[in-house]
Amino acid sequence: MTDHAVARDRIAFLRGLRNVRRFRPDPIPRPVVDDLLEVARWSGSARNIQPWEFVVVRDREMLRALAAAEGYAGHLADAPLGIVLVMHGDPAQATQETWDEGRLAERIMLAADAHGVGASVGWFRPRGAETVKALLGIPPGRTVRTALSLGYPDPAADGPKPGQGRKPIAELVHEERYGEGTGG
Ligand SMILES: Cc1cc2nc3c(=O)[nH]c(=O)nc-3n(C[C@H](O)[C@H](O)[C@H](O)COP(=O)(O)O)c2cc1C
Repeated sequence: MTDHAVARDRIAFLRGLRNVRRFRPDPIPRPVVDDLLEVARWSGSARNIQPWEFVVVRDREMLRALAAAEGYAGHLADAPLGIVLVMHGDPAQATQETWDEGRLAERIMLAADAHGVGASVGWFRPRGAETVKALLGIPPGRTVRTALSLGYPDPAADGPKPGQGRKPIAELVHEERYGEGTGG
């Protein structure tokens, strides 16, 4: 491939990442999971403090219990694998850790996509997060907010729903000064 073709390919890969909530039951092989964790480990963080740990969950009963915790992570129930992001400190208060958490989640999703594995973000509400901490034995001083469901996408699942597109670039981009559009 030419450099240009490589760049087009990589841009298409990045642009194509979608949130997948319905999965085939097939397990994700351990080397694939290891790749995701390796990419996560190398994620960048403010001052390189790496304020994170990961709980990898495959047990169906535990995944169901996590899915039932208050929040928006019901898709964990039928996923072959879940990764709960355990952040050091309190991301609700600490801007840097919140930024790091977002980068981390996105990187895991991209690494999954590179293997053809779909992923969904799930957020727990504060009470749900306490439930998750108790279920997984996560100690005080650690914060849980985000879990990722992972699995090979179910081809029978619905396609993208209305409203899942994106705003046009002309609504988003300003050239040189705010208010100067790209041509809309
Ligand atoms: C910060 C953040 C939190 C999210 N929380 C949830 C969630 O709790 N449950 C869920 O099903 N999806 C969650 N999502 C996924 C979004 O719904 C999804 O990215 C959006 O609908 C766009 O979907 P698409 O990327 O497939 O087009 C979250 C995404 C982000 C960026």
